[in-house]
Amino acid sequence: MKMTQINAQTSDETKFINNLINQMTLDEKISMIHANSKFTSAGVERLNIPEWKLSDGPHGVREEINRDDWDPAGLDNDFATYLPVGTALAATWNPDLALEFGQVLGREARGRGKDVILGPGINIHRTPLCGRNFEYMSEDPLLISKLAVPYIQGVQSQDVAACVKHFALNNQEYERFRVNVEVDERTLREIYLPGFEAAFIEGKSLTVMSAYNKFRGDWCSENEYLLTDILKNEWGFEGVVISDWDGTHSTVKAAKAGLDLEMGTNKSSYNDYYFADALKEAVENGEVAEEIINDKVRRILTVMYRTNVFNKDRSTGEFVSDRNFESARKIAEEAVVLLKNENSILPLNKTQIKSIAVIGENADRKHAYGGGSSAIKAKYEITPLEGLKNKLGGSVNINYAQGYKSTTLFNWSDGRIDTGKSDADYVKRLRDEAVETAKNSDYVIMFMGLNHDFDMESVDRTEMTLPYEQDALIKGILEVNKNVIVVLISGQPVEMNEWINNTPAVIQGWYSGSEAGNVFADILFGDVNPSGKLPFTFPKKLEDTPAFKFGDIPGDGLEVEYKEGVFVGYRYYDSFNVEPLFPFGHGLSYTEFEISDLKLSNDKLQIDEEIVLEVNVKNTGKSAGKEVVQLYINDVESSVERPNKELKGFEKVSLAPGESKKVEFRINTKQLSFYDIETRKFKAEHGKFTALIGTSSKDIKQKKEFILTD
Ligand code: BGC
Repeated sequence: MKMTQINAQTSDETKFINNLINQMTLDEKISMIHANSKFTSAGVERLNIPEWKLSDGPHGVREEINRDDWDPAGLDNDFATYLPVGTALAATWNPDLALEFGQVLGREARGRGKDVILGPGINIHRTPLCGRNFEYMSEDPLLISKLAVPYIQGVQSQDVAACVKHFALNNQEYERFRVNVEVDERTLREIYLPGFEAAFIEGKSLTVMSAYNKFRGDWCSENEYLLTDILKNEWGFEGVVISDWDGTHSTVKAAKAGLDLEMGTNKSSYNDYYFADALKEAVENGEVAEEIINDKVRRILTVMYRTNVFNKDRSTGEFVSDRNFESARKIAEEAVVLLKNENSILPLNKTQIKSIAVIGENADRKHAYGGGSSAIKAKYEITPLEGLKNKLGGSVNINYAQGYKSTTLFNWSDGRIDTGKSDADYVKRLRDEAVETAKNSDYVIMFMGLNHDFDMESVDRTEMTLPYEQDALIKGILEVNKNVIVVLISGQPVEMNEWINNTPAVIQGWYSGSEAGNVFADILFGDVNPSGKLPFTFPKKLEDTPAFKFGDIPGDGLEVEYKEGVFVGYRYYDSFNVEPLFPFGHGLSYTEFEISDLKLSNDKLQIDEEIVLEVNVKNTGKSAGKEVVQLYINDVESSVERPNKELKGFEKVSLAPGESKKVEFRINTKQLSFYDIETRKFKAEHGKFTALIGTSSKDIKQKKEFILTD
C-alpha cells in the first residue's frame, strides 16, 4: 500500500501537531475523522482542539440547518451575500474578480464561524445538460484553472479552508450515486484533471471533496488511483480528502485508499459511520495501521493550523457587509454576456423611451434559495423587475406581464426532468396578456430561461429546449413588437433556433447573485458596458453536442463511457466543423476592438525555452470597455489526433475609447504538449504550430506559425 505522509510546513507546525497526536487516544483520533453532526467533525476538548465546522459553498455560505437533520435551524442571523454562481464567475474571464469572490466567501464563512467552505465546484461541463453545471465553471480546463486558483487563494486568505469538488469525473447528476465513469488516460489528464491539479499545486487548496460516482470500477471515495497515487503522491497534496455527503462505502478500503474524513453517511448513529467504531475495530485487529489514522488526523490538524484555528489572532470575518455586496455587484457586471446586438439596439436610452414591457416569470423571481446544496439564504436579491424599477424610477412606464408559468414535471423515480407543460387555457391567457402588453410598449425585455428546477443538484435536463413553452411566447411577442431583447437566466445553454434570427438582442444573464437585477438594468441602459464571455459553447441543438454524437449520454445509469475523449466543448465543434450557435469565448461589447500586429519573438521555439507573443488591442469605438484577448494553439503536425485548437492563455484588457495596449503571452513547450499514453507523461513533438489570437474560439483575428525544434 502506497501512502504519502504529509510534510509539515514548518518545524513549529510539526512540533505542535505531533505533540497533539502523541497525547491523543485512539478514540479521540477516530472521533476527528468522521462527522458528529451534519456539517461538523469532533474536536478534542481536553487538548483545546475545537469542533471543525464545514459549510456549503460554493457561491455563498449556506443557511444553518439542525445538527442532525436537514431542516433549517430557523435562525435570523444566518443570511449570506449571494455571489454570482460558478458559470457567471467563469464568464468574467477575470482572475482578479475570482480572487475577490474568494475573499468575500472566506470573509463570510469566517463571519459565520466556519472553518471550511465547500467550494469551488470545478467539474468540467461535459454536456449542456448536467444539473450542476451552474455551480461549475467551464468546458475548458485552462479557464477553470485560472479562476479556481485565485478563488481558493481568496478564501484561504481569510483563514478558511477551500474544498475543491467533486474529485473527480462527476460530470452528470443522473445516477450520480451509482454510475461508473470510464475515460481513457489521455482524456483524464488533458481535460478532467488539470483544474484539480492547478487547485492543489498553485492554489494550495487545503481540502478536496471526493465525488459520488465510481471511476474505473471504484467509488471515488475509495479510489486509490485518484486519492493516493495522483492526489497525494503525484501532486503532493497535504490536506484533507473529505467524502461527499453519504458518498463513503467502506471502512478498510476507503481508509487505505486515501479518504481522510467521512461526512454525511446515512446512518442513525454517528458511531455507525464507516470511519467510526468499524475503523477502530479494524485498527485494533491489525487490518489498518494506526499510522494511517494518525496521518488523517495530522492532515486535519495541519489544515486547522494553516487556517489559524489555534491562533488567537485568527480573522473573525464579516458577513452581509456592504463591501461584500459591492463585490457581488462588481463580479456580476463582468459576468453578463451580450450574445447578440443587431443594429446596436442596445444600450437603450431612457430619455427616448416612454414604455417598456417586462415579460417573464424570471423577471420577478428570486433564485438564491434553489439548486440544492448550493442554495443561499440571501440577505437580499434584486430581481430584474426591481432592478429596472430602481433604474427608471417614474420616468419610463414599466408594464409587467408574467407570460408563462413554471410548472415542472419532475420524475423523482428516475431523476429526470421533463420540459414543463401547463394547462392549455392558462398558458394561452398568460401569453395573450403578455402579447397585449408588448403591443402597447416601445420596447420589450423578456426575462426567459431556466430556474433551479432545472439548474439543480441531483437531476439533469433531458432536453436543451426552453421549458414552459417559452419559444412560442417569444415568437408571439415578436409578431407584435420587433424591439425585443431576450435576457436568459440559466446556468446552461438553451436552444434558441425558433426565434434567434428575428430577435435583435440576446443577453446571457446567468444567476448573477444579490445584485443581479441592478446589474441587468445597468447593462440594458448602458451604465455598464458588457464584457462577459461564454465559458462554454452554446450549441444549436442537443444532437450537435459531442457526448450525444459519440453516443454515451447519460449512459444506462450504471456505466458511462466518455467516448468523445478529449473532444469536449469547442475542442469538438471546431475540430469537427459543427457550427455552434455561440462559440466558446464569445461575448459582445457596446464598443469595438481591433486586434493587430501579432509578433513572435522567434519563429523557432526550442524545447524548454519560451517565445514571447505580443499583440496590439485597440478600442476603436466610442465608449470605454473590456475585451478578452484569447490565445489558442493549433498543433499542425501531430502523431496523435488533437483538437483543432486549445486555449493556452487569455487576458482581459480595459481600454478607454481610442486607447491601445500591448498584450503579451509567453509560449512554452508545456503548452504545446499532449499526454502521451506510452510514456505516461506530457510530450511536445517537434514541428509546426500555429498561435491564434481571437475574441472567441471561432473569431480568430490574427495568427502566426512557429516551429518547435531541439
Ligand atoms: C453535494 C455536495 C455538498 C454536500 C453537502 C452533496 O449532496 O454533492 O456538493 O457539498 O452535499 O451539502
